[in-house]
Amino acid sequence: MKFLVTGGAGFIGGNFILEMVRTHPEDTYVNLDKLTYAGSLETLKEVEGRPNYRFVKGDICDRDLVEQLFAEEHFDAVINFAAETHVDRSIEDPHLFLKTNIIGVQVLMDACRKYGIGRYHQVSTDEVYGDLPLDRPDLLFREDTPLHASSPYSASKASADLLVLAYHRTYGLPVTISRCSNNYGPYQFPEKLIPLMIIRALHDESLPVYGKGQNVRDWLYVTDHCEAIDLVVRKGRDGEIYNIGGHNEKSNLEVVRTILAQLHKPESLIHFVKDRPGHDLRYAMDPGKIERELGWRPKHAFAEGIQETVRWYLTHEDWWQNIISGAYQTYYERMYKDRT
Ligand code: NAD
Ligand code: DAU
Repeated sequence: MKFLVTGGAGFIGGNFILEMVRTHPEDTYVNLDKLTYAGSLETLKEVEGRPNYRFVKGDICDRDLVEQLFAEEHFDAVINFAAETHVDRSIEDPHLFLKTNIIGVQVLMDACRKYGIGRYHQVSTDEVYGDLPLDRPDLLFREDTPLHASSPYSASKASADLLVLAYHRTYGLPVTISRCSNNYGPYQFPEKLIPLMIIRALHDESLPVYGKGQNVRDWLYVTDHCEAIDLVVRKGRDGEIYNIGGHNEKSNLEVVRTILAQLHKPESLIHFVKDRPGHDLRYAMDPGKIERELGWRPKHAFAEGIQETVRWYLTHEDWWQNIISGAYQTYYERMYKDRT
């Protein structure tokens, strides 16, 4: 099969390509990525030059480029990871989120209709469901939980999901959607909680925990997510949504304390800072459908996955040093200056 993978130079798309190109030599993977601040070809060094992998630099909103690529490559399936993904950036400036996360999806699906496709897969998020209360551990997000997005980021992802389902119903486009909880693991950009805290703690810098650190996320090791997506793309039913989650609910404070303990750093590095506006309290997934229908199970427990992740950042300093030495410096100063 020939796959178009968009956003494959980012965190999850990069892990997906590394895994799939190596384990599926019979399939071809074309990676279309704009290489925004969040994309890095350093991540993909190991697969560069493989006969079943091609990189194309470009924007999913660029209709001419997307159509040209479809005409050249005759894809069997599209897996759309490309997105603007950081909630804090979406609060600062929503525009690009609406463009990439909604219009980009339209452009890709229009090309699928025009050139024909076996499957369009949309990589979505648990954030489309809004949040759950902290004092109701019995409540979980299910695929039929109403959409209730809180941030411009999650609203853009929810909009895309609606558009994908509309293209299925109206035009009969063969689509699937997966909605996953928070991912962690190698190659995550250090604006996100876990790599940010690891790298700042290593430098003995203060760790900015929003509010009281009580917000809860359901953490999933990134390769477990990649395997789930591969299963949904190959075996999922047309028009269906699949929740993906790890049953690994942790408060932010627990996560940060775990990282500090592993690095043998003091908890005095923790600084409680001004909360994120509209901050979702708790995410928790019910992944029962993908477990029952497709036999998916996560392989990593949080205790083991976070150890592997800390170890990865300790041994891959060259990967993240490049990132934090450039424009990222001004990002951190801009984003956190009013929080303390
Ligand atoms: P990321 O920010 O690390 O990477 C995004 C990638 O998309 C980058 O390589 C970037 O260059 C590329 N990109 C951005 N705009 C583009 C455009 N217009 N055209 C082409 N490429 C473009 O993101 P991630 O964390 O790997 O997330 C991937 C997908 O998974 C996103 O759709 C996100 O909503 C979803 N998701 C993420 C998580 C998580 O915890 N990170 C959880 C659930 C779902
Ligand atoms: O749930 C899936 C989503 O997970 C994805 O759709 C998003 O693309 C991804 O960015 C992530 O969103 P979050 O907002 O949950 O992730 P983030 O790493 O930004 O924050 C995780 C939690 O940690 C959240 O409650 C906010 C908090 N936080 C974050 C940062 C960056 C802090 O307390 N301090 C920080 O400096």
